[in-house]
Amino acid sequence: MTSILIINGPNLNLLGKREPHIYGNVSLAKIEDLCRKRAEILNHEVEFFQSNHEGEIIDVIQAAINTHAGIIINPAAFTHTSIAIADAISAVKLPTIEVHLSNIHQRETFRNHSYVSLVVDGVICGIGPISYTLAIEALDNLLHKENC
Ligand code: DQA
Repeated sequence: MTSILIINGPNLNLLGKREPHIYGNVSLAKIEDLCRKRAEILNHEVEFFQSNHEGEIIDVIQAAINTHAGIIINPAAFTHTSIAIADAISAVKLPTIEVHLSNIHQRETFRNHSYVSLVVDGVICGIGPISYTLAIEALDNLLHKENC
């Protein structure tokens, strides 16, 4: 079994209650459950991490070098501001997929740009919680080098 690290940034702990017209009614705990089930089918285990603090997210990305085969990250608002998170992802050189529940390209202009997108292997956005399970499949594909 390989281990996948799934990171969620600020305010995503409030999913289910937070702006449900944008982010839906599904809690982060439910998304974690969906991810674990999908990962298990593909023979991966999942470490799920959420933080409201940029430095904690960077520490977890750095620590993944020796412990995880790949990363899925929803950096939340740090998507649009954090060169430091993008640098950490570049530094560890692990296969990485960026996810968003909402379609950031259909929203306010300040959400249209992602520093993180510049350094990840792929981006999945706008499909709600399914963005995460699709990201697991994408990462599984990258790990098995079955890209076509
Ligand atoms: C988000 C989109 C971001 O712009 C926002 O700051 C979030 C959530 C998403 O999943 O749609 O917190 O990353």
